[in-house]
Amino acid sequence: MSTQFKVLNPATGELVEIVNLNTEDEIKQALKNGHNAFKKWSKIDAHTRSKLLKDWSRIIQENKEDIAEVMTLENGKPLKESLGEVTYATTYIDWYAEEATRIYGRTIPASSETKRIVVSHQPIGLVAAITPWNFPAAMMTRKAAPALAAGCTFIVKPAEETPLTTMKLVELAHEVGIPHDAIQYVNGKGPDVGTLFTDSEYIRKITFTGSTPIGKLLMRNSADTVKHVTMELGGHAPLIVAEDADLDFAVTQTILSKFRNAGQTCICANRVIVHENIVDAFSERLTKAVNKLIVGNGMDKDTDIGPIINEKGYQKIFSQVNDAIEKGANVLIGNEYKANIEQGSFFVYPTVLKNVKENMTIMQEETFGPIIPIISFKKIEEAVEIANSTPFGLAAYFFTNDYRVGTYLHDHLDFGIIGWNDGAPSGAHVPFGGMKESGLGREGGSEGIEPYLETKYLSIGHFDH
Ligand code: SIN
Repeated sequence: MSTQFKVLNPATGELVEIVNLNTEDEIKQALKNGHNAFKKWSKIDAHTRSKLLKDWSRIIQENKEDIAEVMTLENGKPLKESLGEVTYATTYIDWYAEEATRIYGRTIPASSETKRIVVSHQPIGLVAAITPWNFPAAMMTRKAAPALAAGCTFIVKPAEETPLTTMKLVELAHEVGIPHDAIQYVNGKGPDVGTLFTDSEYIRKITFTGSTPIGKLLMRNSADTVKHVTMELGGHAPLIVAEDADLDFAVTQTILSKFRNAGQTCICANRVIVHENIVDAFSERLTKAVNKLIVGNGMDKDTDIGPIINEKGYQKIFSQVNDAIEKGANVLIGNEYKANIEQGSFFVYPTVLKNVKENMTIMQEETFGPIIPIISFKKIEEAVEIANSTPFGLAAYFFTNDYRVGTYLHDHLDFGIIGWNDGAPSGAHVPFGGMKESGLGREGGSEGIEPYLETKYLSIGHFDH
């Protein structure tokens, strides 16, 4: 059995690094260490934990260029996006460094004058995270920062495609004095580590970002030990352009949302739903703007769209586009591919499809690639019906300057994240998360620390005056 795996550059297929796989015994030992470390870490005062988190954020910023380069090599995203992601990752640490000192309790008026009721919070214990390859820094700190701030200890299994960024971040945490067993990483195959995590009695919470089927499996397997779970799962974001929308602005924001990380983002616009009276004008302007995007190696400074992470992702995009074309969609631009499958490099050129219909796979399954399918609608109710017609409910976008249309859409779209004239709604200060099969729980904002805390109330009797 192999004890190592290769991290490959998806732009070239070249070897970036060989990483050791942890054995089952090593992982079990790491879980035990994390559990034991909880006793000490959870007792460290909140101000000290906050200071350590701030130091972690600072040292990450000091190493920003190196981390971004590693990220581009293992993930493929353009270097400018990797730099942006490193900063995005530190904003979660900064935010939760502040929240650490604001974990308040409360008192409740008792049912009798001889009683007093006090509510307090305590960290839940060792937290295990399974993080994705599409945002190897930010998805890790979005989980680690609130966990550590709350007083939990933390262990992460990064995606096999992109472990290096995460490993570096954990090493930097140790460098500023966060104890070794308070934050750890382990490397291994997803199903093996997933089972060790869900079976472990030491772990009190699993937090996962990834596909809906794996999320369901983790939830099922967490049931025996009644673990807490936070699940940030698949999305299939609709983007609605109403008849009155500012078209140029809608085009810019569609591009911003869609092509971040080559469309390999859970919240990126996947189904563009445009009013029939403006669909031609919108499609034309969008196609012109897409034509300017540069596809290439993320290390080249002009690149806007890097490679697709692996062959599986590449083939999925290819088959979704072909299915749409076979069922009558027109290609306005793109549908071009440059891959060296044997070598392991996969590029998909940004593609715009028009005359898309709801029966096409691309409208039903999440797309993880730079493809924009455009479908038209007559009435706003119809746009909502199309938008809500999948099992997903992560992010939705709409463009309108009519407050009645905007509030109607806000009230009727079943999504956890809604961008109104806004294609980039993420941030450390907001409660990111989905409805329906897109997940459970929220990450970020004041809500994002709650899943790492248990609530306890104390009822004190016999208060005689
Ligand atoms: C994701 O795609 O899961 C994360 C995107 C974000 O945080 O903006």
